[in-house]
Amino acid sequence: MTAYDLVVIGGGPGGYVAAIRAAQLGMTVACIEGRGALGGTCLNVGCIPSKALLTSSGKYAALSNLAAHGIAVEDSSVDVGAMMARKDKLVGDLTKGIGFLFKKNGVDLIEGWASIPAAGQVKVQNDQGSSLLEAKHILIATGSEPTPLPGIAIDEVDILSSTGALALDSVPKHLVVIGAGVIGLELGQVWSQLGAKVTVVEFLDRILPGIDGEIAKLAQRALSKRGLKFQLGRKVTGIEKTAEGLELALERIAKGTEETLQADKVLVAIGRLPVTSGLGLDALGVSVNARGFIEVDGRFATSVPGIYAIGDCVPGPMLAHKAEEDGVACVEMLTGEPAHVDYNTVPGVVYTNPEVASVGQTEEALKEAGTAYISGKFSFMANSRARSIGETDGAVKVLASPDGTLLGAHIVGAHGGDLIAELVLAMTKGATVDDIARSCHAHPSMAEAVKEACLDALGRAIHA
Ligand code: FAD
Ligand code: NAI
Repeated sequence: MTAYDLVVIGGGPGGYVAAIRAAQLGMTVACIEGRGALGGTCLNVGCIPSKALLTSSGKYAALSNLAAHGIAVEDSSVDVGAMMARKDKLVGDLTKGIGFLFKKNGVDLIEGWASIPAAGQVKVQNDQGSSLLEAKHILIATGSEPTPLPGIAIDEVDILSSTGALALDSVPKHLVVIGAGVIGLELGQVWSQLGAKVTVVEFLDRILPGIDGEIAKLAQRALSKRGLKFQLGRKVTGIEKTAEGLELALERIAKGTEETLQADKVLVAIGRLPVTSGLGLDALGVSVNARGFIEVDGRFATSVPGIYAIGDCVPGPMLAHKAEEDGVACVEMLTGEPAHVDYNTVPGVVYTNPEVASVGQTEEALKEAGTAYISGKFSFMANSRARSIGETDGAVKVLASPDGTLLGAHIVGAHGGDLIAELVLAMTKGATVDDIARSCHAHPSMAEAVKEACLDALGRAIHA
């Protein structure tokens, strides 16, 4: 039986990063991956293909907005096959890159599906049969999968999960998205930017639950302006296949009335659930919570000694960079290094046009907790770079304690996903809005809106 210091189950951003870091720290490491490619959900069917398609479709949509720049585009067309081929090549190149990093760092990749017959042992099943590994430590990084909608079967042809919506071979006429969360908005906008009518049906009376309410409203307005239609406060109760396509039965929650909606494709994007089946957790006695997420302590240890878990399969934000932080902190602690993850400073970015980015507390959460705070806001309409590039929708909002310490920051706007990094660093270092306001920001830049929002919180805004 081959023996390792660490066997990582799952080669997604959590697992592969943990494996590399553990090898750097001197551990003997194997990483087991069943899907036939490294990179997990994120590289194969998540972050990367969705951003590739958002970019391609965004370039096409931008063609119809060039008249104000004095540019006329006579004929434009979309070759969905070529767009998908670009996306697939990008994914293939990046996943192969991780294989190269494994070799460079001495991590053994074992292809197959893993289970844990006992603490200290990992069984791998693949085309060659099964084999047993001995492991001083086992790290579960098996990720997540789409939450099913009861009574609605995903066939990935007409009724899609995110995976199917990333691989359509033509532009649907009417795509109905169930769920106005991150996936629904990003993938809804991909197809909307390519010319599809896209209607987003959401259970709640708002989009993007968890995001600051004022910012979510600004985002909804900007996304509506770019073509997304929203039907909020509605529940999909069934989908029927008809001669014309699909007919969705909806219930208006506040009124209890019923409605129907015709579509030719439906994307179900109502959240994700942990992947843990087949690992043997029950028999081992590994505790999971009511929703199936593996329970861990501050060192990522499960209820069974020697077994750890990170990333999407444990409670917390389901984000690639969070999974990576978990993985690095977990293996650093295993080797005696001081490490921790501050979940309050994990940023979240929705890569729509415009982007929606946030870190830390929302205004609603501060109010609910009775925390005293000051706030500042600056609209991109008053930012000269935003005016120059024609991206004036949105604003930066900062929330701070009365002494100025940043508690949260929220952005809707072009490049918001990059702008948030300054605020993440500031929060991580305990900086105040005054610290940001007193640091020099290049002119003209979108980042000046961050500085102005901080000035506004202090009552010193110059351009508002
Ligand atoms: P995963 O990436 O899910 O990896 C787990 C791996 O484990 C998989 O490859 C799986 O095959 C393997 N595995 C599972 N069970 C076994 C087993 N028994 N044996 C062997 N292997 C096994 N996050 C962001 O931060 N930014 C984004 O822009 C973003 N976009 C997204 C877009 C979409 C459409 C989706 C679906 C998700 C997106 N996410 C994004 C979320 C991100 O993909 C996840 O948070 C991230 O992949 C979680 O990493 P992980 O390593 O925990 O799990
Ligand atoms: P989500 O949790 O972001 O949103 C799901 C939405 O569906 C919510 O608004 C919810 O109220 C709604 N909903 C739930 N049940 C419903 C029903 N029956 N009918 C109508 N609406 C319903 O989940 P989503 O979008 O599926 O994404 C899953 C995870 O993937 C998220 O946790 C996210 O962090 C991650 N992700 C991250 C991305 C990024 O960082 N850019 C991109 C895509 C996904």
